Amino acid sequence: MRIDIITCLPRLLDSFFAHSILQRAQQGGYVEVVVHDLRDYTADKHRRVDDYAFGGGAGMVMQIEPIARCIRSLQADRAYDEVIYMTPDGERLNQRTTNTLSLRQNLIILCGHYKGVDERVRELFITKEISIGDYVLSGGELAACVLSDAIIRLLPGVLNDETSALTDSFQDNLLAPPVYTRPAEFEGHRIPDILLSGHEAKIDEWRHEQALERTRIRRPDLLDS
Ligand code: ADE
Repeated sequence: MRIDIITCLPRLLDSFFAHSILQRAQQGGYVEVVVHDLRDYTADKHRRVDDYAFGGGAGMVMQIEPIARCIRSLQADRAYDEVIYMTPDGERLNQRTTNTLSLRQNLIILCGHYKGVDERVRELFITKEISIGDYVLSGGELAACVLSDAIIRLLPGVLNDETSALTDSFQDNLLAPPVYTRPAEFEGHRIPDILLSGHEAKIDEWRHEQALERTRIRRPDLLDS
């Protein structure tokens, strides 16, 4: 998989992709993440990417030309499955969308800023608009990191234990069950005996019941969907 991220703040993304699982995923060849500085696609010497809104009002708007130039130059080299725009008015990200996107080959992610992008960018280039929640961030970069992380960890081979992504919360519309590690007793608090029984089928059953119970209490909406 290849993910191209378009941003006017490329440095903001550097450290995120340079550590832990995301770094290993790139070094292992499971994903190529390429960050593009939108300012490299401007035509004026001030490298401006935004301008005042037509009709007035507070806030700057990201201009279409640098974005068009950048997206077109990428599309000239390969076909993209989706051109995603990170925006608070997009479709709310969930595990289903993340699973679907993890099966794609090439993705572009555009990070918004200021008052957002000129509407014509959305009409002409964007195939999917994604929000990571009902709150407004200062820019789409963090949202792009969240989306990329959620996708990349699903790529086969990226996690050491392949089954661990399958047992995450939200797969099967259930939250994950509680987990424990050593010591088996901490200041009088013992872990559930079943986990020490060695009886795999019973442990699986217990975990499923716990996942159901936790979902019923914390996120009953997931059980209805
Ligand atoms: N940009 C600003 N806020 C955002 C959000 N909640 N989700 C995605 N992109 C955003």
